[in-house]
Amino acid sequence: MQTLTLARPDDMHLHLRDGAQMKHVLQDSARQFARAIIMPNLKPPVATTTQALAYRDRILKSLPGGSDFQPLMTLYLTEKTGPAEIIQAKQSGHVYAVKYYPAGATTHSESGVIKMENVYPVLEAMEEQQLPLLLHGEVTDPDIDIFDREAVFIDRILAPLIKRFKNLRIVLEHVTTKQATDFVKNGPENLAATITPQHLLLNRNALFAGGLRPHHYCMPVLKAEEHRQAVVAAAISGHPCFFLGTDSAPHAKHDKESACGCAGIYSAHNAIELYAEVFEAGGRLEKLEAFASHNGADFYGLPRNKEKVTLEKKDWPVPLTLPFGEYTVVPFRAGEPCHWKLK
Ligand code: NCD
Ligand code: ZN
Repeated sequence: MQTLTLARPDDMHLHLRDGAQMKHVLQDSARQFARAIIMPNLKPPVATTTQALAYRDRILKSLPGGSDFQPLMTLYLTEKTGPAEIIQAKQSGHVYAVKYYPAGATTHSESGVIKMENVYPVLEAMEEQQLPLLLHGEVTDPDIDIFDREAVFIDRILAPLIKRFKNLRIVLEHVTTKQATDFVKNGPENLAATITPQHLLLNRNALFAGGLRPHHYCMPVLKAEEHRQAVVAAAISGHPCFFLGTDSAPHAKHDKESACGCAGIYSAHNAIELYAEVFEAGGRLEKLEAFASHNGADFYGLPRNKEKVTLEKKDWPVPLTLPFGEYTVVPFRAGEPCHWKLK
């Protein structure tokens, strides 16, 4: 049987939710990943160090016995965030980044930033403290076609931002387009990008395959095939600026299968196995370890994980649903086979 051994991976973009729902989804992440960058878009948002430390405690208390999974916390950037909060966050030793959501872009983003200029003093403090800025890189202008919102964000917001804040560490999260992968690859060393399994495996046809497919709907929305191919090329290149971030974003089944379904794909259940398929199909399985286990840790200045994990080439059926607090969640690939299995 074909096997692949690599350092235990890290998930550099994860939505864990809270309470009973978190308890269920956390097991999936903790089984595969050593550490994860935890997104702060709870309701209310995790906007202060105090809130982040309390959330971290709830995560640690919800972990299955014996797990040494480490949640790496983030703050939600709002127009009320001040430079003092950034200093406190850095000093806490548990906050690793600050997340920017344009107001109204995605799930629970109503507290986000309206104009980047409004948070310049905070960005200056982050630059000084070397606390990375994580970008949901889409404009929200309703006049911009939804498939163009990432490319327009790069031109209008990201390009001027990196010119002005030359020492700010920036991650363009969940890149989906050729414009984004080109920009990051050719950008400065302090700019990186995370890549999700869905943007590697699916193009936008998957949203409409034989009918409307709410479980393939996420933000940023899936793109055309040429863009998917550019994202695959970036991931399997092994380039240090690209690393694993699932953007696993569980929503209850009924909230997805609705007249106005929520954005978000639950990929934590089989994440590393899905990524392995992509690297195998691209003939670059040997680069999976750099993408999944080295590049993200290096960017965040964390030690690389010493522990190893092994994947086997073996089909297994992905369940139709999984428990999610009092509801259920439909995992990515539900009812179909996955082709690699974590031992
Ligand atoms: C995320 C969620 O549900 O929290 N949804 C998504 O489609 N990715 C929010 C986000 O990261 O944009
Ligand atoms: Zn996300």
